[in-house]
Amino acid sequence: MDAITVVKGFKDILPEEAFNWQRVEQFARTIFADFGFKEIRVPILEKTELFTRGIGDTTDIVEKEMYTFSDRGTESLTLRPEATASVLRAYIEHNLFSQNAVLRLFTIGPMFRRERPQKGRYRQFHQIDVEVLGSDDPRIDAELMIMLVRFLNGLGLDNLNLDINSLGCSACRSTFREKVIAFLKDTQDDLCEDCRRRLHTNPLRVFDCKNETCGQIIKDAPSILDFICDDCRNHFEKVRSSLESFELPYRINHRMVRGLDYYTRTTFEVTIPQMGSQNAVVGGGRYDGLVRDLGGPDISGIGFAIGFERLMALLPPEQTAVPPAPALFIAALGNQAREVAFRLCNRLRLKGIPTEMDYEGKSLKSQMKKADKLGSRYVLILGDREIETGQGELRDMRSSTQQAVPLDQVENHIIQLEK
Ligand code: HAM
Repeated sequence: MDAITVVKGFKDILPEEAFNWQRVEQFARTIFADFGFKEIRVPILEKTELFTRGIGDTTDIVEKEMYTFSDRGTESLTLRPEATASVLRAYIEHNLFSQNAVLRLFTIGPMFRRERPQKGRYRQFHQIDVEVLGSDDPRIDAELMIMLVRFLNGLGLDNLNLDINSLGCSACRSTFREKVIAFLKDTQDDLCEDCRRRLHTNPLRVFDCKNETCGQIIKDAPSILDFICDDCRNHFEKVRSSLESFELPYRINHRMVRGLDYYTRTTFEVTIPQMGSQNAVVGGGRYDGLVRDLGGPDISGIGFAIGFERLMALLPPEQTAVPPAPALFIAALGNQAREVAFRLCNRLRLKGIPTEMDYEGKSLKSQMKKADKLGSRYVLILGDREIETGQGELRDMRSSTQQAVPLDQVENHIIQLEK
């Protein structure tokens, strides 16, 4: 019978890899806690309308990348393509805005986009998503980037580019939209089909079109920074001076519009030069009208998401750890010894000493080999003689020394030796 394989664009995270994911997650939790963030867990399935309204119905994600289905004819549901809309839905639904003026939240989990799979691009991928709700203070924008860079530096990623931009408010954007439409007027026939269609609905999308010709055309487009209003300019200046006061290097990239429609004012991305492609490892920005657009009060917000797979692919080798080896391996010979070993092995585990044994009745030599392969520091040898005397032979694999240890005191010995 043919074996069933994983769905295209989806992937398994195997044990060694999952171990490293856990470490990175744990590190994120530690850093985020220092900055006052709390975890929120939201479902991976939402009503489709949340994303069409939240992300924008003329974005690539909503137009062609969502896994949407009818729930047996009752309602349209979608596997979340990102977390921001879900976090905000929960924020509104549970009146979380009434608890705190500023609420800092993070969530970690899978997202789904039906993109063309390639290196670093999957159909199920994971994000570490961070959102700050309740303030439009530009120092919050800087604070978020400081935390992000602290996190990435802590993982050994020092050589990174932080690109920032401002997309202005809805008023500045509508002026800019007209400028972009005018700029593209003469070349519109050369644009790809998607961009031609979107020219009048969502011209900013041309900026992040992956088509090469569109990229060439939009290269010389006007800069949004020349069209933002005074309030937005002051906001952007304050973000910049806050980053500078912290000596956090950044670059201004006026062509960075981001692929989701909810952004206002500050947007940012992190790319790593050695990545080779233009894919960002982190993307984020401010979304001051989104809570309101999703049916909540008029509350500001800003956030970012780190692509977990991309992050893991970038970690330097010294950041890759292997899962810890069992402290003890019990090599038992004979049925009676295996019975004793079974009880001892689980007794030690219950006391917090990672212990392994072999159930296959293998020779002492092959059990020692297995212990060595597992990397166990100690091996307890149990045969008929040891059962009779009530003492096992405890071998230190590192020093190749051996001592007789009463079976009811094995745990104390291990604890003493490990000290
Ligand atoms: P995004 O730029 O769409 O933003 O995604 C953020 C990150 O997720 C990307 O920089 C990338 O690392 C990763 N990513 C996206 N798509 C894929 C994929 N198909 N395969 C692998 N990794 C991928 C957002 O999702 C916003 N919700 C971020 C945000 C939070 N803005 C404000 N708050």
